[in-house]
Amino acid sequence: MSNQEPSVGLAMGAGGFLLTSPIATQALAEQLGALCQGGEVFLLQGDLGSGKTCFIQGLARGLGVPASSRVTSPTFTLHAEYSGRLRLNHFDLYRLEGEVGKANLASLGLDDMLLDPEAVLAVEWPEILGTALGTEALTIQLSHAGEGERWLNPVAAGNKHRDLLSLWQRVAHF
Ligand SMILES: Nc1ncnc2c1ncn2[C@@H]1O[C@H](COP(=O)(O)OP(=O)(O)OP(=O)(O)O)[C@@H](O)[C@H]1O
Ligand SMILES: [Mg+2]
Repeated sequence: MSNQEPSVGLAMGAGGFLLTSPIATQALAEQLGALCQGGEVFLLQGDLGSGKTCFIQGLARGLGVPASSRVTSPTFTLHAEYSGRLRLNHFDLYRLEGEVGKANLASLGLDDMLLDPEAVLAVEWPEILGTALGTEALTIQLSHAGEGERWLNPVAAGNKHRDLLSLWQRVAHF
C-alpha cells in the first residue's frame, strides 16, 4: 500500500478510532484479525446499524476467511462458522432479547467455543448474556458519529486481550 493512498480513518484520543467509512471499519478490523493467534473473544457492542457486522466482515478477512465466504449477521440462526487460517465463530444474539435468563452459554454451545484455541469468537449483542462472556475479551464499542462515520472504542480485559489491543493500536494504519 503506498503512502499516497487516501486515509480511511483517524486515530482518536484515549485509544479509540474515528472510522470515516465502512471500508475504514473493515480495514481496521482486518488488521486486528491478522494479529489473532486463536482463543480471542471479541464482544461487539453498539446500536442497530452501528457497524458490528461490518467490523466482523473485516475481522474474517484478517483471519484468512476467503472473500467468497460472505459474512452476514446470523440473526435468525444465531451462529455462523467460517473457515480461514483460524476458525471464526460469529454469534448475533439480538433475537434473544427479552429472553435474558433463558439463554446461557451452554445452551448456545458458547462454553466450548470460548475454550477453543483454534478459533476466534465474535459476538454481536453480548449484553444479552449479561456478564457470562465478560471476563477475558476485547470489547469493541461502536457508535454513530457523523454521516458515514462511526466511533470505535476498544476495552480489553485480561492480559491476552490487553496485549492484543496495544499491538493493534500500534500497527493500525489509516
Ligand atoms: N464508518 C462506518 N463503519 C461501519 N458501517 C458504516 C459506516 N458508515 C456507514 N456504515 C453503514 O452502516 C451499516 C452498518 O451495518 P451493520 O450490519 O454492520 O451494523 P450492525 O451493528 O451489525 O447492526 P445490527 O445490530 O442490526 O446487527 C452498513 O450499512 C454500513 O454500510
Ligand atoms: Mg449485525
